Amino acid sequence: MGTIEILGRVPLQGNVVIQGSKNAALPILAATILTEDTSYIKNCPRIADVCGMIRLLEEIGCRVRRRSDGIETDSSGVGKKVIRLDSEAVTGMRSSLCLLGALIGKCREVVMEYPGGCVIGARPIDMHIRALEQMGVSFVLENGCLRASTDDLHGAQISLPKVSVGATENVILAAVAAEGETLIRGAAREPEVVALCRFLSACGARIGGIGTDCLTVCGGKKLYGREYTIPADRIVAGTYLFACIGTGGTVFLEKAPCREMEAVIETAVYMGGKIWTSESGMYVQGPVRPFSVPLIRTAPYPGFPTDLQSAALAAETLGDGETVIEETIFENRFRIVGELQKMGACIVQESDRCVRVTGVPYLMGCPVTAAELRGGAALVTAGLMARGKTKVSGCSYIERGYENICRDFRDLGARVVSE
Ligand code: EPZ
Repeated sequence: MGTIEILGRVPLQGNVVIQGSKNAALPILAATILTEDTSYIKNCPRIADVCGMIRLLEEIGCRVRRRSDGIETDSSGVGKKVIRLDSEAVTGMRSSLCLLGALIGKCREVVMEYPGGCVIGARPIDMHIRALEQMGVSFVLENGCLRASTDDLHGAQISLPKVSVGATENVILAAVAAEGETLIRGAAREPEVVALCRFLSACGARIGGIGTDCLTVCGGKKLYGREYTIPADRIVAGTYLFACIGTGGTVFLEKAPCREMEAVIETAVYMGGKIWTSESGMYVQGPVRPFSVPLIRTAPYPGFPTDLQSAALAAETLGDGETVIEETIFENRFRIVGELQKMGACIVQESDRCVRVTGVPYLMGCPVTAAELRGGAALVTAGLMARGKTKVSGCSYIERGYENICRDFRDLGARVVSE
């Protein structure tokens, strides 16, 4: 899918089923290599990043089979040899970072392409490295690759200086294989970290404090493959929620993980949405015109998620007043501002971490370009809200995280075609 064409100003109506969570599936697929046998991961989203992770798993010797409703992995073939993740098949795949902790735990040595930054920020890995060094891992940078190795992987008392989902996950993955106990202070509490801990616990790991910012991991337990169902994707659900708010629609988001979306729901209600939640999903009635929330500030869970900042910004372009959006997690996550301004949005970028958006009566459809995953999905939302035709290019970014955003929005009555 290169481009998506939208004929806007159609209030979304109908029911859509929310896919499995990308950011839960990736670390859980990586974790399967720590078992000695077969796991069956159900409800894995059919997205590019999961396909990339499958390629990585096969590169290191896993046998992977996609079945009707999930992915079966057999890690019995993953040996204790040095694993290299620097072939052209895997370069440029940031999701390989999810494998760092698991490969250290399994093989005690891994060479991987140094994971670069991306358009939303530098995305350093200093916390990953410092924490794993405390567990006995040595790192050497050679020819743009990172060699991580240890002959004494042991538990440690880790204090993460800032909340990092990936660093928390990599420490957990190494700690379940390490000798002794690991304490992680300042751990990320995101639902995706909880899902990883629950999967590992089901495999036989002993993890305490799940869901809190202080985790204890008793390492060295033998782990057995398990069947596990990936939870629904709270970011995809939130994307469609803000699209409903922005178009004044009425939708049911089946399987939306409502309990993990409190900050998102609170913001959507402030925008004028009427929301009913249940075990089966979320029913949303959007306002005729969104109200402008005075301040939306992103924060680590349970705060407002950075991955929905662009979707909220798109919805607020038609707000009835002024909204300030502060992005506290990444330093360059307002790439869609220029594209929204082309559509007639009134946005002032006050700094690389703050924008001020004043609602306008309408957006005008026009050609826009996606530069990254969540911004691309937000541009589609803006197209749904705009008068006339919007053509979003660069949609391969969107395929990294959304199974089929065109199908989903068409299920909700939108006039969307992909080319
Ligand atoms: C995960 O990225 C998610 N990706 C991101 O989702 C999400 O936006 C992010 O967490 C925050 O919730 C996956 O789970 C695959 P971090 P991650 O480490 O782990 C800084 C999406 O669209 N930091 O929590 O890479 C970092 O620069 C993606 O689905 C360091 O300084 O994010 C950032 O400012 C985008 N040093 C902050 O911490 C480090 O060693 C949080 O990053 C690590 C991180």
